[in-house]
Amino acid sequence: RALASKHDLHVGTAVAVNQLFSDYEPIYAKTLAHSFNMITPENAMKFQFIHPEPDVYTFCEADGLVKWAEDNSMDFHAHTLVWDEAIPWWVFEGKYSASKLKSILKDHITTVAGRYRGRVQEWDVLNEPMHDDTDKKIPRHSIWYDNAFDKDIDAYFSNVFNWAKAADPKALLGVNEFGVETSCPKADALFDIVKKQIEKGTPIDFIGLQNHWASEDSLPSVKELLSQMTRYNEIGVHVRISELDKDISKTDKKSLDLQAQFFVNVLQACLAARDQTDVTKPSKTKGRMQGTCIGYSTWGFTDKYGSLGGGYGVNNIGHGLLMDQNYNPKPGYNSVVSYL
Ligand code: XIL
Repeated sequence: RALASKHDLHVGTAVAVNQLFSDYEPIYAKTLAHSFNMITPENAMKFQFIHPEPDVYTFCEADGLVKWAEDNSMDFHAHTLVWDEAIPWWVFEGKYSASKLKSILKDHITTVAGRYRGRVQEWDVLNEPMHDDTDKKIPRHSIWYDNAFDKDIDAYFSNVFNWAKAADPKALLGVNEFGVETSCPKADALFDIVKKQIEKGTPIDFIGLQNHWASEDSLPSVKELLSQMTRYNEIGVHVRISELDKDISKTDKKSLDLQAQFFVNVLQACLAARDQTDVTKPSKTKGRMQGTCIGYSTWGFTDKYGSLGGGYGVNNIGHGLLMDQNYNPKPGYNSVVSYL
């Protein structure tokens, strides 16, 4: 946290409410406040948890997290307003018409983003809009894309972003996606959609590049990572590293060093994007300034709780993060610190 401030960079992590507010484990909160300057709620702001019944919002956990961040002088990356997952039963079983689904989504965005207006710095408005398969150039099926917007991708993007903008005009608004960190058809498809939106004035400020990296034997190069960032920055869109982790199946030196190298490669690319762009200069898109890399966030910080709630990743045995199960720094943490 102290080192990142030299670069004026957000360094963040996903946060689990149970651990943060546990009386039995003060080290979780202490480590979080010591090492990071931004938090992302892992689950607390997702539709299913914050809006579990048609007219019921449960803000308790999200309110607690926002207040905790304020009390600890940390910034808040809110996550997420629109996703195909974590949708409550009533949305599915309501068998609503397209126009009713649109009004449900608009009310949801207006209420949730409106509640934290002025208190959160960023919102993941749209989470994972593209198909899982990185070789495909198509959007993901979801009740919002298919049923509410009848597969009209442009209307889908522009509506949800404009609704969020109206609810919280000052927060930076973004799309968060995985598998688009390096060159592939999926990355190109998302870029094309976003570019078109930017040209027509949709308020998209950033793209979150998740950076869950599972492959044991290959790492993305700094150059590859940077080239995806650069094309967004050039059209006036920021990027942020949003859910970094590196799955490893063993904790021998070789694996830990490889993991450290991944964390550093991504950081290096983010800092290089900051060096090469100037947010006070015009971008290739009329009326917008250049973008840059605005943050570097991991999906959790201690292997004690693993990453991705234990449900994701190739090996899924919980060695993917910067600190071990006892909150001790791993080679990845030390490498990031030395690089900063
Ligand atoms: C994950 C959480 O970590 C789990 O606890 C939950 O069970 C499922 O969601 N991409 C995202 C995150 O944008 O919201 C997901 O979080 C992980 C993948």
